Amino acid sequence: MSHDEFPTERPAVVTCGLPYANGDLHVGHLRTYVDGDALSRALRRIGQQTAFVSGSDMHGTPVAVNAAEAGVEPREFALDFHETYAETFPQFNIEFDNYGHTDDAANVELTQEFVRSWVENDHVHEKEIQVAWDTEEDQPLPDRFVEGTCPYCGEQARGDECDEGCQRHLEPGEIEDPVSTITGNPAEYRTREHKFLRLSDFQEYLQGFLDRLEGTDNAQNQPREWIEGELQDLCITRDMDWGVDYPDEADGGEDLVLYVWVDAPIEYVASTRQYSERVGADEYNWEDVWKVGGEERHGPQWDDDWAGESGEIIHVIGRDIIQHHAVFWPAMLRGAGYNEPRAILATGFVGIDGKALSTSRNRAVWADEYLDAGFHPDLFRYYIATGAELDTDVDFSWDRFQERVNGELVGNVGNFIYRSLLFAERNYDGTPDAPVSDDVRERIEDAIADFEAAVRAYDVRELAEIAIELSNYGNEYIQRNEPWNLVDDDPERAEQVIRDCVQLTKAVAVLMQPVLPGKAERLWGQLGEQGSAADVTLDAALDAPPAEFDEPAELFEQVEDDHIEALNEELQERVESEAPADASNGGEGDEDADESDESDDVDLEPLVEERIGFEDFEGVDMRVGEVRSAEAVEGADKLLRLEVDIGHEVRQVVAGLRQLHDAEDLPGTRVILLANMEKAELFGVESDGMVLAAGDEADLLTTHEDAPLGTRVK
Ligand code: 2FM
Ligand code: ZN
Repeated sequence: MSHDEFPTERPAVVTCGLPYANGDLHVGHLRTYVDGDALSRALRRIGQQTAFVSGSDMHGTPVAVNAAEAGVEPREFALDFHETYAETFPQFNIEFDNYGHTDDAANVELTQEFVRSWVENDHVHEKEIQVAWDTEEDQPLPDRFVEGTCPYCGEQARGDECDEGCQRHLEPGEIEDPVSTITGNPAEYRTREHKFLRLSDFQEYLQGFLDRLEGTDNAQNQPREWIEGELQDLCITRDMDWGVDYPDEADGGEDLVLYVWVDAPIEYVASTRQYSERVGADEYNWEDVWKVGGEERHGPQWDDDWAGESGEIIHVIGRDIIQHHAVFWPAMLRGAGYNEPRAILATGFVGIDGKALSTSRNRAVWADEYLDAGFHPDLFRYYIATGAELDTDVDFSWDRFQERVNGELVGNVGNFIYRSLLFAERNYDGTPDAPVSDDVRERIEDAIADFEAAVRAYDVRELAEIAIELSNYGNEYIQRNEPWNLVDDDPERAEQVIRDCVQLTKAVAVLMQPVLPGKAERLWGQLGEQGSAADVTLDAALDAPPAEFDEPAELFEQVEDDHIEALNEELQERVESEAPADASNGGEGDEDADESDESDDVDLEPLVEERIGFEDFEGVDMRVGEVRSAEAVEGADKLLRLEVDIGHEVRQVVAGLRQLHDAEDLPGTRVILLANMEKAELFGVESDGMVLAAGDEADLLTTHEDAPLGTRVK
């Protein structure tokens, strides 16, 4: 089946991934929220009833670890950040209809209801598993309290995610060579009983779900690989105090809390429900979106009738959490009889000056810093929404920001609007009394159709560019027709041209509103319009503007060189001093997600106590090699695909060097290759060996004389 075209008869909800309430927000986080906000505004613009919701992710080890470092109780710590986020988002014109948090009673109760449903529907079972344990502290080490080696790709991994390598979710007990992040000691594995959601119950359903899913290609395609073969059970409990209690009456589990990835997405539902309860079900009914009526809907097959009965759920997330949203979450919804997402939009990351954003190295542009610089929030929104396709990484630099604002917003849009409205006000006190020409009307109609198509394709970049292209057309139009030369010689024609320009200005206001809502509102006022630009639909682009308006002021201000120089210097000084940030909430492409307290001192890993025999060492086949070529692995921020000549043959190796070495400098470099490493696949590229390197900066091991390629290292 295919989904109905937007606008549909049913309500939609656009959700944004919940930020962990554990550190300051930076431009990397803001990207998802800007895109989600723009999309929800655009949906409303084409007549789709839409709610826009999110909330703070308060639980889990990402919060507990940072709270412990700060010496504050997790609840107090997380609430503080929650309040800051709730204030910060509107300052970027990101206006949620509801912004809740996962620790409030509404979400806790709903989460426990979900779990009870899974238990009732026989999707939960108990199993003994190995959990990492810190023997010195005598405590379990859930998720981010443990680090080690990813069993799938061999990269360094943290607790429940392989964020440096294959991006997989890791189940408790899977990480190899576990080390406690509390004491730095090697951890041991101990047996504990935990609850599991049987994902294999949903295997067939998930295949159909992915076929129906709309949104970005990465969200549709990456999960297919993960659901091949029997799906592994998802451990839904943790040995921790901080979190939502496992509902006791649902069969044991008294000392356990739910895994943070259980209560976090359920907040999407709880937050929609809070909004619905606030405005009343007549205005917006959360059940129409989330609930699927009738027992018959609980079967394993998708029922075509569903599409007609439940609303449109659209998730906007960072691309690091696709598996959670496209595999775990639909199963969780299905297991409790809820509706499924219609679309998942997984945004790329934000880099800074060509490198990955890094909170611990303070290579970041912080939300507060942007606001303190005094720039209008819409300028950032525009930059980030149009900087790249939604699912591709976008680089932020102050220089590029200045270039784009001055060129595209000041030079194109601002220029057209100002010259049109000024001319109209000076000569006609407002909109001249003439009909819109056919050409201009058609051009606006085309822009409206393009806008509708962009919304239906979830193409935020395209929908942002439509207004810019229209004003480009306006600039050419006014330039070509030179109304200033017509006023005396052909006044009727002059009126016509200016009427067209004012109409184009109004259309630009209507079309730019999702991405530039503050500026659109101001322009609406300059046009003498009543009410809010947020309340109109696309048809308003063709309605006549008011006959009278006041003299306009410039809509956009030039970004000055000295301002940008100062911001660049500040950023550079910070990065060079490598001062750690006070706190970090990582995620969203953060190179060092959540290592908030990295110091300049080298934090040496403890020596491994267990000795190995010479035979073990002999089993390690290390060879002298030379890099022949190096190129980025598509879709992976950190990975390079290398071809390494090791005398006998040339090996293809995938290595996490992209942020640390320039690919073009690597060919010709002599390296040491672990040649009998198990083969692994990273981002679809086979890696046949491992290049040896020391430390966080990947200092490459090499030889100092001229041992021939292929020589064994002993
Ligand atoms: O990865 C993260 O930052 C999580 N806090 C996202 C949660 S999104 C959701 F499902 F709630
Ligand atoms: Zn991995």
